Amino acid sequence: MNDSTPIRRRVRTATGGISDSRVNDAKTQSQYQPYKDAAWGFINHWYPALFSEELGEDAVEGIQICGIPIVLRRVNGKVFALKDQCIHRGVRLSAKPMCFDKKSITCWYHGFTFDLETGTLVTIVANEEDKLIGTTGITSYPVQEVCGMIFVFVRADDFPDADVPPLSHDLPVRFPERSEEFPHPLWPAAPSILDENAVALGMHRTGFTNWRIACENGFDNAHILVHKDNTIVQAMNWVLPLGILPTSDDCISPIEDEDGPKGMMQWLFTDRWAPVLENKMLDIKVEGLNGRFYRTSVVLPGVLMVENWPEEHIVQYEWYVPITEDTHEYWEVLVKVCPDEKAQKDFKYRFDRVFLPLCLHGFNDCDLYAREAMHDFYADGTGWDNEQLVSTDVSPITWRKIASRWNRGIAPPGRGVENATKHSPIKYRRLSEGKAPGYFVEKIND
Ligand code: FES
Ligand SMILES: [Fe+2]
Repeated sequence: MNDSTPIRRRVRTATGGISDSRVNDAKTQSQYQPYKDAAWGFINHWYPALFSEELGEDAVEGIQICGIPIVLRRVNGKVFALKDQCIHRGVRLSAKPMCFDKKSITCWYHGFTFDLETGTLVTIVANEEDKLIGTTGITSYPVQEVCGMIFVFVRADDFPDADVPPLSHDLPVRFPERSEEFPHPLWPAAPSILDENAVALGMHRTGFTNWRIACENGFDNAHILVHKDNTIVQAMNWVLPLGILPTSDDCISPIEDEDGPKGMMQWLFTDRWAPVLENKMLDIKVEGLNGRFYRTSVVLPGVLMVENWPEEHIVQYEWYVPITEDTHEYWEVLVKVCPDEKAQKDFKYRFDRVFLPLCLHGFNDCDLYAREAMHDFYADGTGWDNEQLVSTDVSPITWRKIASRWNRGIAPPGRGVENATKHSPIKYRRLSEGKAPGYFVEKIND
């Protein structure tokens, strides 16, 4: 480049910075039909199931992901996961855990006993000679435990072991490996839960809306308006824009390497996006003094990464784990590399006193209610066609297309599981007892 090279300005178009071809219409919508069909989520992916501390030695816990009931048991430190639906008459094994040895789990109702590793029916307590034994069983799910989190590969019953991808294919991209591809001049390389000495601190809770609505909120660049009055924003005097507008068609890069996660990276705080700090007509101005640079990316099966958030050297991960088509488990996890005990203690101290109350609650509570506020519009399926999107919505549109292209399977509606039918008398009884539908199985008390 010589001195006389003219500086090219990005040209804004009528749609506010990106070309018409990127705006939503029927043709674009047809490119993400699989996403519209994925009300119960994408299966054959890795999902977080529990924090390690939620499953002590010999503990049994029942959860539900993508409409599939799953029971987890830890034996000699190792976690096993099986389908939590007895093949005999369908009760959940986790409702009343019964384990006679370290290799199996027994159904508390009529004694069908399943091998923990393979799910094979190995005996029936009072029917040792039955010809069913050894010929059938329940699905087992691969488990991996990293950084204090238990991940389960939630698969279709016929998904072969040999095809199970590494966990890293369903986690955010890593740095510094991909720093050249996705440069980050304004902050240090984001840590990963796969890094040595990484510490993950967070929480999970049930959100009462479809997982896609929740996921799209995580990287929606116009929604930061809901955070304008948050305590952490005001206390830290952050310059949090009213919104961020795309200024060019390359504002988002797909993440589609064959041997890695699939998703998209948003080039926030570069010249491909313009922060909006003022609305003249409404006389609103962002008054903060301290820059708060961050960047969001999302990969299948719906994992958000917010780099440089809520402060330097920390990254926020979020998962929106489908439970049913109208509930999801919302995971918020902060990750930091802590090379020694002192660093771990300091992170934990700051987590307990600042990040948990003001960020994961406080700031992200706003996201949760905004997502739930969208639920009715999308719940009957018509919202996907009736929404009127604008240029900033290039983010969800791009994500929907990428998710449609790369998911490993659309979860069928849950069968024979809690909340698969909306009018179960059991559900009404629980509601009348003040219990909301949730993620964990309700244990039976003797
Ligand atoms: S329902 Fe499980 S053994 Fe009968
Ligand atoms: Fe938000």
